[in-house]
Amino acid sequence: MAATDAQTQPWWKRGLIYHCYVRSFMDGNGDGIGDLPGLISRLDVLRDGTPSSLGIEGLWLSPVYPSPNRDFGYDISDYRAIDPTYGTMDDFDRLVAGARAQGIHLIMDLVVNHSSTEHAWFRQARTSHENPFHDYYLWNDGVNGNPPNNWGSTFGGSAWEWNEQTHEFYLHSFFKEQADLNWRNPRLREEVRGIMRFWMDRGVDGFRLDVANYYVKDAQLRDNTHELIITQPMPGNPSKTLFIPMSREVYDHTVDQPETHDVLREMRGVIDEKPGRMVVGEITQRTLTQVLSYYGDHDNELSLVFNFFFFVRHFRAKDFRGIIEQTFTLLPEGAWPAWVLSNHDVVRAVSRYHLTPVMAKSMIGLLLTLKGTPFLYNGEELGLANTPIPRRMVQDPVGKRYWPLPVGRDGERTPMPWDASPGSGFTTGTPWLPVHASATTYSGQSGDPASVLSFTRQLSWFRSHHPALHAGDMTIVDGPSDTCLCFARTSPAEHMTVTINLSSQVVPTPCSSFASGQNPLFSTEDQPSTHSLAPWEVRIAAAGA
Ligand code: NOJ
Ligand code: CA
Repeated sequence: MAATDAQTQPWWKRGLIYHCYVRSFMDGNGDGIGDLPGLISRLDVLRDGTPSSLGIEGLWLSPVYPSPNRDFGYDISDYRAIDPTYGTMDDFDRLVAGARAQGIHLIMDLVVNHSSTEHAWFRQARTSHENPFHDYYLWNDGVNGNPPNNWGSTFGGSAWEWNEQTHEFYLHSFFKEQADLNWRNPRLREEVRGIMRFWMDRGVDGFRLDVANYYVKDAQLRDNTHELIITQPMPGNPSKTLFIPMSREVYDHTVDQPETHDVLREMRGVIDEKPGRMVVGEITQRTLTQVLSYYGDHDNELSLVFNFFFFVRHFRAKDFRGIIEQTFTLLPEGAWPAWVLSNHDVVRAVSRYHLTPVMAKSMIGLLLTLKGTPFLYNGEELGLANTPIPRRMVQDPVGKRYWPLPVGRDGERTPMPWDASPGSGFTTGTPWLPVHASATTYSGQSGDPASVLSFTRQLSWFRSHHPALHAGDMTIVDGPSDTCLCFARTSPAEHMTVTINLSSQVVPTPCSSFASGQNPLFSTEDQPSTHSLAPWEVRIAAAGA
């Protein structure tokens, strides 16, 4: 767990990165859908140079490209434009300029495992074998009218769809409206590199690569293996276990193929053409060892790889400790972790773990004190819970397909509750999804020093002023109780200890203990006790104090 030099550390290692689900962040024109002008109007709350904002360093935008929204933007029909629902290219340029003026770096979502079947490439490709775009996608004649193998779509059913015009199947790892691109085609690869340069030239600082380990598929089209599982994490709420014996597809010939690493090295080459750019990858379906392999050898693939392994653990110190220790043991030399507790695809952490506001603070305390880059999903700073969605309001096609199974993702994608006005300050119209009925609002929490929001702002500010926390080394130690997570954070100039009591019990801290600390530098408590930790307390102290 080596320390990084705080002076030379890039922004994407140093700072908090905020995941903005644009559709639900802020509506600027009253149509009920979040957009770029709305987002621009709220940049101040993200970073204004004072402790009254979140003090983010990076802003990751969910996809804002034109899309028929068969998978809410993850089906892109034009990689070089902005969907009119979200604004214009001028709005985008204003966002880049506005973000830069506030010291915020912008990350675009790049979805290139597949394109929308409405993309001009696919519309051409599907017309004939001879069409120059045909080979941009993955085709097969099938056998006696059936798909060539057993590959399944992640969203259910076969991954192959018949195309009447050419009398063959095309591959789709997700919905049939999301056709998989052919990464063995050098022209397609050049096309994607061009798209990256297009956005980098407009001032974009990085990309989040959607399902980056899916790009290349087995050239021989061998069947995927299936395994019998008795228990499995509940889809959408993986900290819960389902006891249903079932056969599960192991994506051994469709995910994680060795050539994918070549593609990512090439993409990293484009990123490195300009200083200060980065790329973070979404790697799913794999073990921690496989996930971490996407950092590459000697930092030549992804700059960061999301660590989603907290999702499938309980809210307990020993569970978190296990993941943290395994991560640091397996992390390649020099690689920097990226921690995630919530996103637009899984039940929000507050609902997943049943957190009260004080517990939500300890969760954010963990996210912001671990060595690595914290990703915060919009609403997490309020301790926002999932919103129950009645059937008639379901928007997510995954939710529609599997109703009433709890796998739809609308509940974690609902609009931000900015204030108590009729449209919750999000819109003057009707929000595209309902706002959480009992959520405490941004403006309410802003004025309350005891709120989750105030705590998040304070800790983010504290973190940004302490190299031990944003750049330092980290060592886990045993705490005064196994309900506590304890670690040391050290930089050349600072030595700190972090103790998080992940329990509802008061934990006595013997004088000799790591967690004692006569002078806590930071705590969730107004008056931290020198002899004990309060339930759920997050305490940062100068080491040895
Ligand atoms: C992962 C994205 O986060 C999810 O929202 C999407 O449905 C799939 N990739 C397919 O693009
Ligand atoms: Ca709008």
